Amino acid sequence: MREHLDSKIKERLGEHGPAIRTLGLGVVGLHEGRTLLAALNRTRHIRAVAACDIDKEKLAAIQREFPSLNCTLHFQDLLARPDVDLVAIYTPDALHGTLTVQAFEAGKDVICTKPLVNSMVDAEKVLQAGRKSGRKLLVGQSTRFFEPFQRQREAFECGDLGGLELVDAHYTHRMDWYYEKSPWVATGTDWVFLGLSHPVDLVRWYLGSIDEVQAYGYTSEMGKRYGVRGFDVYVVNLRGMDGKIARVMGHYGLRELPSARNSIELMLYGSKNSNLAQYHDMRFKYTSDDGTEVCEDPLYQLRHYYFNSETHGMHYGEFANYSEYFARALINGSPYSPTLEEGIETFCVMEAVRRAAQSGKPVAVKPLMDEVGL
Ligand SMILES: NC(=O)c1ccc[n+]([C@@H]2O[C@H](COP(=O)([O-])OP(=O)(O)OC[C@H]3O[C@@H](n4cnc5c(N)ncnc54)[C@H](O)[C@@H]3O)[C@@H](O)[C@H]2O)c1
Repeated sequence: MREHLDSKIKERLGEHGPAIRTLGLGVVGLHEGRTLLAALNRTRHIRAVAACDIDKEKLAAIQREFPSLNCTLHFQDLLARPDVDLVAIYTPDALHGTLTVQAFEAGKDVICTKPLVNSMVDAEKVLQAGRKSGRKLLVGQSTRFFEPFQRQREAFECGDLGGLELVDAHYTHRMDWYYEKSPWVATGTDWVFLGLSHPVDLVRWYLGSIDEVQAYGYTSEMGKRYGVRGFDVYVVNLRGMDGKIARVMGHYGLRELPSARNSIELMLYGSKNSNLAQYHDMRFKYTSDDGTEVCEDPLYQLRHYYFNSETHGMHYGEFANYSEYFARALINGSPYSPTLEEGIETFCVMEAVRRAAQSGKPVAVKPLMDEVGL
């Protein structure tokens, strides 16, 4: 296991030869989009050529930080550039659908941060535009690309767990700072799309298609203070098509977390073993065959890569991992995940959760998928 970890760390730290071909990237929305720009010194098959934001000051700051970038206030100018092969979208949730359709129509491939869309209308539009244009899209589900979650997936695919029997995922985070920074968060989306998209995607990654969900929602004191539309606390049960079950929890009005818990955790229970991946710490835990507990914790080797030597909880490494992974898939024509169709399916699961929490009744996912044309 140690050797395996060493080789992964070397891979992350870029001990490879130079790339043969690189793709040009245009980034729109320059808060989390800036994180991606700063992370591209870790990638070999993708390079930034253009950036866009409607905020003049933010754009000017990006131009100072990355002098060679072509910066514009107008998304259409970015799309018109022939050196932009693919576009990465980090605007507020409600704009993802429109900007993705525009990028497809301009002949660009797309990385769209989570959530891919946050409405049924946009789900249908994006799916149709993707099919018509034939362009490719990767949903930037960052948690999948954080080191412990990659390790957990490898262990699962190697059969270490035996048959999967239960999935338990959560994402909790104190969000008063987010409402202050980005007021659209309170009323322009729903926490089921913004926050719960992480654990819902993780469950879908392991269980595949979801048949039905049950959900309860609650609005925290912090959520009420900031006028949150919808709930900011969710508890969800999900049943897969093959009858396997999962639960998901999200809380975005909490105060502090004791150190025993991480903001995102994915616990997999299998017939042979169970294991746990954690974010914002960098731990992957499981029981070895001789019964001892193993904790892989590469935080001090990889925190520069993942957190840019800042602090826990930044996304540099995950964004670098998924953009490099997608660029390689585009260049080689190889399969990748999560695709446009998977992203729309995950949206349908999230919409089912939102409706179930509002109504207090179970909601089937398939009718929503039919409605958006999946
Ligand atoms: N783990 C992750 O992958 C992760 C983490 C945080 C946020 N996100 C997602 O990233 C997105 C952005 O979140 P954020 O925290 O950076 O939000 P933010 O409010 O800090 O930044 C959004 C930026 O988009 C710009 N913008 C708005 N409309 C625009 C338009 N029409 N054209 C160009 N630019 C426009 C704004 O000026 C702003 O700079 C959200 O969808 C969020 O869900 C993902």
